[in-house]
Amino acid sequence: MLAKLLRVIVLFRVFSSLVAGSQGHISVVLLGATGDLAKKYLWQGLFQLYVDQIDNGHSFSFQGAALTPQEQGQTLMFDALKRLSCSPDIFPGRCTLLKDQFLKRTRYWQLKTAEDYISLSRDIESSVRKEGIQEAGRLFYLSVPAFAYVDIARHINSSCRPKPGAWLRVVLEKPFGHDHTSAQQLAKELHTYFLEEEMYRVDHYLGKQIVAEILPFRQRNQQILDPIWNRHNVERVEIVLKETLDAKGRTSFYEQYGVIRDVIQNHLTEILTCIAMEIPKNASNSEEVLRNKLALIKSLQPLEKASAVIGQYQEYNGQLREELQKDEHHFSTTPTFAGVVVFIDSLRWDGVPFILTSGKVLDERVSYVRVLFKHRVFCVQSESQRDSRSSQCKPRQIVFHIGHGELKFPAVLVSQNLFKPILPEGSWKEVADLSSHHLYGQPLSDYYVYRPMEEKDAYATIITNIYQGKKDAFITTQNLMASWHFWTPLLESLAQEVPRFYPGGTENRNLLDFVISGRAVSFVLEQHLEFMTSDQYSQTDSYKTMPPIFRGSQLVTAWSDTLVSLLAQDIEVTAEEAVKHSGVFHLALSGGSSPTALLQRLATHHYTFPWKHTHLWMVDERCVPLTDDESNFVSLQENLLQHIRVPYLHIHPMPVHMNQRLCAEEDHGTEFYSKEISLLVKNTSFDLILLGMGTDGHTASIFSHTPEAMEREQLVLLTESPVKPHLRMSFSLHLINKAQKVVVLVLGKRKNDIVTLISRVKQEPQKWPITGVNPNTGQLVWYIDYEALFR
Ligand SMILES: *[C@@H]1O[C@H](CO)[C@@H](O)[C@H](O)[C@H]1NC(C)=O
Ligand SMILES: *[C@@H]1O[C@H](CO)[C@@H](O)[C@H](O)[C@H]1NC(C)=O
Ligand SMILES: *[C@@H]1O[C@H](CO)[C@@H](O)[C@H](O)[C@H]1NC(C)=O
Repeated sequence: MLAKLLRVIVLFRVFSSLVAGSQGHISVVLLGATGDLAKKYLWQGLFQLYVDQIDNGHSFSFQGAALTPQEQGQTLMFDALKRLSCSPDIFPGRCTLLKDQFLKRTRYWQLKTAEDYISLSRDIESSVRKEGIQEAGRLFYLSVPAFAYVDIARHINSSCRPKPGAWLRVVLEKPFGHDHTSAQQLAKELHTYFLEEEMYRVDHYLGKQIVAEILPFRQRNQQILDPIWNRHNVERVEIVLKETLDAKGRTSFYEQYGVIRDVIQNHLTEILTCIAMEIPKNASNSEEVLRNKLALIKSLQPLEKASAVIGQYQEYNGQLREELQKDEHHFSTTPTFAGVVVFIDSLRWDGVPFILTSGKVLDERVSYVRVLFKHRVFCVQSESQRDSRSSQCKPRQIVFHIGHGELKFPAVLVSQNLFKPILPEGSWKEVADLSSHHLYGQPLSDYYVYRPMEEKDAYATIITNIYQGKKDAFITTQNLMASWHFWTPLLESLAQEVPRFYPGGTENRNLLDFVISGRAVSFVLEQHLEFMTSDQYSQTDSYKTMPPIFRGSQLVTAWSDTLVSLLAQDIEVTAEEAVKHSGVFHLALSGGSSPTALLQRLATHHYTFPWKHTHLWMVDERCVPLTDDESNFVSLQENLLQHIRVPYLHIHPMPVHMNQRLCAEEDHGTEFYSKEISLLVKNTSFDLILLGMGTDGHTASIFSHTPEAMEREQLVLLTESPVKPHLRMSFSLHLINKAQKVVVLVLGKRKNDIVTLISRVKQEPQKWPITGVNPNTGQLVWYIDYEALFR
């Protein structure tokens, strides 16, 4: 009996060694083979791959490569390989054998010149030929600084591509650029050498067990989650990565990136997509997963400066000066802490804040995602009197505990008053006896806690995913670009911002706590006053003494934020008076960038605004489809309409798109709009018209070279702009001047020259159309911020 069993085992071994290689040979080339990442994770991951796949039909060889000369590099590499270990379920004897086999299949190469790459490729070809097996594929893992990518890519493309029939996979590590432009540049260059399907951009967070489980978890529990995974039930989502370490030793890298580029643009954004994306119909289809991820990134609402708070640990500048050998005047504003609030433009998530936070030198090391559900139950009985049946009184949450922190292992936690989750049997287990701990605001006994039976390193998972060609666990070019497109404007707007300084560790106390109000975040504690110099104080005072008259009309001036809130207030008061007086308020709004902040202010701060009785008109419009990004209507829609409740029939976009064409005179769009105005607006006199002013003195879409826009009695006209898109539709000066009230909003130092100029000139609308704004009987008010007024 035993002999028979042994024979079976022997036969099986012979069989499996025959099978090994029958599906072909895979060559793995690890560039940066002696680097930190390789030493710490990659070699171990490759060894794991070898062990896992040994009986699955592929044969392997491993080529470690670096710039270091042969002998020295080889020594360094094999030193690192001594540390390889097997998983605990493998007998020590077998482990030694596996390590031996692995080392026999591993070689070191100095890869520097074109010839080096050619001889590597020749060597792979000849050894495959010698063994008489097919080549299945070549995997190049680039664990090198990003500046080396393009050079290496060129060499791989020109001399290391396998013959047709075998695949090429090239693995890249972040950073993938520094902003949208640089990422695009790098992607473009890489694309000249590789096909999209050949590139694997790693975000190692996607290899972390808990992160990798988020989507499958949502799917497996879809029946219960579907009705609650939305804005009606979710209060907020927190995505958090806290570190205790500082940037010491790598400040030269960190200085170029900062916390948002280092971890938020990539890791935390990837986690956000896993939580918020729509579950694909077929989740084993990588393309579908990636498509839904992309759709989610594209539906993130644009960020502004107020969407984030930033901090910097106090030691940072000292460490930086020392490492970069700068003098004491060198001062960096690179943030080492950031809290960002992100909103998603979708029916599912509208209004739910997603809080993304990370920082160095904080009080603990931990990373997690916490989905907090709304609390609707009011419990009358005091807490001490409640029994287990009143579990609805407790918070309800799902926590994906990615790692570290008080809970020493990765886990998924679900409040017991939510539901008992389903996790894959065999690889996850429920943890019971944890009652003494208290986590995320509740005793652990309030949760169902599940942990993986075996903890796997993220890189081992990533390497397996590459081997299996599981592309949804990587970042495609499209998704990368979409992510940079989302983050770059915020990064630019924060570039000059001075971060809040924090002492580090537990001493931070509540210095970094921040609060969400509307779409903005701010620190809970006011900034210390000493950050404002005495110089700034005196300037503030002098502004107060300015006479509030500009071109003979009322002037309101302040810093732009204050100015915008004053104007919003003014508009609300005007609206209330108009509604009281005539039951309706006719408001005409201009395009351009200045009104954006105003519209947002109206959307987020003016809850008593009489929108129900307000008609919204457009002062001007570009001749593009009303869904085009350039359309003024799109901006109105995004910044205001989608946040307020205004009756559908009160919204009056300009008819620039008729009969499938744009602003054709034969379509009489201007007459349509004039007629609509005449029909609804009493005496065609608007209650309030909001105008901007261009640096060339244009207003609405009336430009200096279109005199007919100033002379004719027409209400609405077609005009031509000197910049694209050229064709415009606009209110005439005649119509503007009939209004009860006209407000001109001017923001930013770019406008300083024109403000100075027109403060001196008389009425010359042919040269500067804005000077033709002069209401017949109504009121004109200038809202000009300090920067535009004084620079
Ligand atoms: C990539 O390699 C192919 C084949 O060697 C070559 O024809 C092509 O020019 C290379 N591409 C670039 C951009 O160098
Ligand atoms: C799901 O996608 C996988 C991978 O593309 C495919 O093999 C499978 O047939 C698909 N399943 C269904 C039900 O369409
Ligand atoms: C209507 O507008 C004209 C021209 O601006 C003005 O003269 C007239 O008084 C206005 N009528 C009323 C009722 O407001």
